[in-house]
Amino acid sequence: MHKKIRKAVFPVAGMGTRFLPATKANPKEMLPVVDKPLIQYAAEEAVAAGIDVLVFVTGRNKRSIPDHFDKAYELETELEERGKEKMLEIVRNILPPNVTCVYIRQAEALGLGHAVGCARPVVGDEPFAVILADDLIDGEGGGSALRQMVDVYEEYGCSILGVEDVPEDETHKYGVVSPERVSDRLWDVKAIVEKPAPADAPSNMAVVGRYILTPRIFDLIENTGKGAGGEIQLTDAISDLLSEQRVLAQRFKGTRYDCGSKLGYLQATVEYALKHPDLADDFRGYLQNDVCKRLLG
Ligand code: G1P
Repeated sequence: MHKKIRKAVFPVAGMGTRFLPATKANPKEMLPVVDKPLIQYAAEEAVAAGIDVLVFVTGRNKRSIPDHFDKAYELETELEERGKEKMLEIVRNILPPNVTCVYIRQAEALGLGHAVGCARPVVGDEPFAVILADDLIDGEGGGSALRQMVDVYEEYGCSILGVEDVPEDETHKYGVVSPERVSDRLWDVKAIVEKPAPADAPSNMAVVGRYILTPRIFDLIENTGKGAGGEIQLTDAISDLLSEQRVLAQRFKGTRYDCGSKLGYLQATVEYALKHPDLADDFRGYLQNDVCKRLLG
């Protein structure tokens, strides 16, 4: 039996510059897709994977994240008085009662590797997950993307990276692996490079914001210097891990939306609206009767 994955780390200290001015006073992780902020989708994905400790590595302007997960007494009282039972249910059940949230401040934004390293005092000597909330993943078949990865971890007991194939001219946006096939959806990672130019990329298999890591990564992060973009990169620490431990790449079943980009965010909004129980019919009607007619003439 491998140690159970109980904790997930959410690095949420980034500046969100691509969404300015929306992210001037608000974190990008609080941008809503239809009616839920990105960070809530990420938290729900972790909970669906059996995780009960959520570790948020936050920075400046991130107070709305703890507020979102805390009990909102005034709001609850008001909804109760107005008899808004359905809304009350929603705000009361943001997370199940057995889940604990821990907040750590990353005093300086030194990169993703550094952010993950900040979680060490809470994670300790256990394998753990990392979720980047701006990669929104709509899992299929075997459940949420992280659930699928935890299932694989339970079999192999090693670090696992969530991957997908990206267009060859987009490798410079991702950590890219050099893969060696194990089975249908699994590869051994032979090398990993952060944001390579297409000509230098070992493949077009990119890491997309989901990681299961062994605690050895914390020692390696401490010895990782500045890498791509002058930041302490998680990818570089994973590259060092490869010489000591097995690391797998898993192509999960599901669709990923890059909600760190405006286009990806809009795509996610359209797709989630088309699945939303209260909205889907009206929204589909609007797309068909108004938008399509206007676009197609
Ligand atoms: C980060 C990681 C990168 C990974 C990507 C996934 O980059 O550094 O390796 O592929 O997330 O979204 P960022 O998007 O923060 O620049």
